[in-house]
Amino acid sequence: MTAVEARTGTPQALTLDDYAALARERLDPPVWDFIQGGAGEERTLSENLLAFDRQLLRTRVLTGLSQVDTSVTVLGRRWSAPVGVAPMAYHTMVHPEGEVATVQAAGMAGLPVVVSTFAGQPFEKLAAAAGAPLWLQVYCFRDRSTTRRLIERAEQAGFEAIVLTVDAPRLGRRLRDLRNDFRLPEGIAPANLPPADYSSPSGHGRTELDPALDWSVVSWLRSVTALPVLLKGITTAEDAARAVDAGVDGLVVSNHGGRQLDGGYASLEVLAEVSGAAGGRCPVLLDGGVRRGTDVLTALALGADAVLLGRPVLHGLAVAGQSGVSDVLDILVGELEDALLLTGTPSPADAGPALLAPSPRLAVGPLPRPVAPAAAAGVLRKEELHASVSDPVLDTMNFLNEVTIRYPEAVSFAPGRPYEGFFDTEQLFAHLRRYLDHLAEQGDGPDAVRTKLFQYGPTAGLINGLIADSLRKDEGIDVDPASIVVTVGCQEAMFLTLRALFAGPGDVLLATSPCYVGITGAAALLGIPVTAIEEEPDGLSCAAVEAAVRAERARGRRPRALYVVPDHSNPSGTTMPRRAREELLALAERLDLLVIEDNPYRLVSTGERLPTLKALDTGRRVVHLGSYSKSVFPGARIGFVVADQTVRDGAGTTGLLADELAKIKSMVTVNTPPIAQAAVAGMLLAADGRLSELNAGPAKHYGEVLATVLEQLEKHFPQERRRALGLSWNVPSGGFFLTVKVPFAADNAALLRSAEEHGVIWTPMSYFYPQGGGEHTMRLSFSYLTRADVEDGIARLARFVAAEATGTAVDGPGR
Ligand code: FNR
Repeated sequence: MTAVEARTGTPQALTLDDYAALARERLDPPVWDFIQGGAGEERTLSENLLAFDRQLLRTRVLTGLSQVDTSVTVLGRRWSAPVGVAPMAYHTMVHPEGEVATVQAAGMAGLPVVVSTFAGQPFEKLAAAAGAPLWLQVYCFRDRSTTRRLIERAEQAGFEAIVLTVDAPRLGRRLRDLRNDFRLPEGIAPANLPPADYSSPSGHGRTELDPALDWSVVSWLRSVTALPVLLKGITTAEDAARAVDAGVDGLVVSNHGGRQLDGGYASLEVLAEVSGAAGGRCPVLLDGGVRRGTDVLTALALGADAVLLGRPVLHGLAVAGQSGVSDVLDILVGELEDALLLTGTPSPADAGPALLAPSPRLAVGPLPRPVAPAAAAGVLRKEELHASVSDPVLDTMNFLNEVTIRYPEAVSFAPGRPYEGFFDTEQLFAHLRRYLDHLAEQGDGPDAVRTKLFQYGPTAGLINGLIADSLRKDEGIDVDPASIVVTVGCQEAMFLTLRALFAGPGDVLLATSPCYVGITGAAALLGIPVTAIEEEPDGLSCAAVEAAVRAERARGRRPRALYVVPDHSNPSGTTMPRRAREELLALAERLDLLVIEDNPYRLVSTGERLPTLKALDTGRRVVHLGSYSKSVFPGARIGFVVADQTVRDGAGTTGLLADELAKIKSMVTVNTPPIAQAAVAGMLLAADGRLSELNAGPAKHYGEVLATVLEQLEKHFPQERRRALGLSWNVPSGGFFLTVKVPFAADNAALLRSAEEHGVIWTPMSYFYPQGGGEHTMRLSFSYLTRADVEDGIARLARFVAAEATGTAVDGPGR
């Protein structure tokens, strides 16, 4: 007999709606209103409920299924069912046993509880009562130390994850509370926060919570806790992709802030979009409107890993304390079992879109919003495409290209292209001829030469021997040609390397922040999580790498490899000192980490050349990526990867990592075009493998253009002026880029103003920060420009900066 049956003497099966009705009878009307409006505007709740009503599950018969397993594993912990308790403030307001009763009931059911920032009882007491995982929900207070202390306390008490609520920057207008002038009842206050005036929940929220959070909060949370971090309140694919890229460990689809926008969706309506964007890279939970077992299954079918249950838990608590919460959870899980059986679904993992009827039941009344517009011929839904297409990193190149095309008269400091003055069309034929002669000298007859040029070629490449020779002479890298795979640009080398090395969702790529978008983009395409490590003026610090590796391991993930551009990095221009290189290799050995070295700018830079990581790599920790785009010409699209690591299979057979990369390549580009390889080979032959000598002229040129950029910046922003403006730049020792920090947001909108009004284009550095940052910095690429272009361009940039900094209109581009 359930608690309510005992109380009412009614023997019929109970639903969560019955509990709601009984709770309403019991609670003071303003408290009832506070609970019902607890997730923001009143309409939010009815929209969330209706969204479930519109979905129909397809019943299957004769399935032979007699029992189901409702359990799931979330963040490495088993839950008895895909259901947890949503964070809710002040359980003590509805029953004196408060959160302790809720935690006990959930623990008995084997289900987790997300404890609210505003819990009415101390974390330590809850931890002592818990029988299943406890997570802490946090808001970010204006005073960050309040949030930090809250997290530290929960962590010490044994809580297992942090859930940051991000959808309530302006807590919903709680119309009912405004009408009731709702005040917390006497004696009700948060038990884990410093003393303050909490009597008006929404008033307190407005004054104390930080209204201007941005994505940097994720790295901040990472810096204060090693626990997994989830974001609650994600409702779009864009934010989901951004969150996953920022390295969060889970998402909660929730509209707890309220449907403050008229066009706002119910949680369920955006679930497929969000889970599609997450792409299995982290668990996705949903809350809002779950009231029946069929609702849980519907959410699973649309991509949720689990749901959180809110108000019904408070209803159960209000009616009968801990046993009321137990009833509520038992009813829901029992209904879920029925729903699984009736749809022929053995376990939550088997739930998918096929469970749902094709045409959702139409909404009645003035509440539209089907899950998706009816399919129109030839129209595909973006959220049903791979999540990476919604990742902003994939748009960055297109945006820059569009700006460049739209403003052809502008001086562009955007493209990282080599200077064209060194290209000679006629020489291309000479290079091809030289390679063909070389083949003949090596003993190939005319037929063999024809086959080499006209046929599909070996997947790993044609010119590996010449590349190995050049690496030995120029870079001090001594490897067998068999450990080289020639690729279609370095981008393919990145793709192949990541695909081979990253085996599962727990494998994470460490990368510098800022970081080249080619690698973060490739990781996005492959669904590989990236954790960014802040770069210092001298490049990466080993201590930061070690801290990141340890933090990832504490989160249960495997930091598989670190991507680094040690010389004249793109985009920051930094170069790692020799000692840091040696330390990094020792660290990689100690921590069993691979290093992916990308080094395209060395041979086109003047000055001292420090040894590459690969040249110092005695333990085969380094996978070296190469590019001929800067040192030969980018149109050839020739890159390569040196992968001399030994791979051993279960039977003990060994081969090279390069062999595995070649297998993957055979399914991506089959082989690199032989004609392009021939052109590059001709140039390698012309230089006898010494590309550094062939590039002495270009390197000198790039050095001079860099000097001109620095000189012109100094001219337009002498020390006094730049100090007054708050402007600064770095001084790289080579490469194609430098960065300028400016006293305003260097974002896409500023870039458009810069191009339109001042005729100068640059790249917002924020593109290069995988987890947020660089909002006030621009990257200037100078490699494509002449010194005269630079003089003109920096003068334009100075006018743009002056206009932005003072808000005044100034002269136009003047050319
Ligand atoms: C909430 N909710 C909430 N969310 C949060 O992140 N922190 C909090 O402190 C609270 N507090 C709170 C109090 C009350 C009384 C209610 C009803 C709700 C929102 C909650 O976690 C959840 O998103 C909603 O309740 C939606 O789920 P249901 O209630 O429709 O199942």
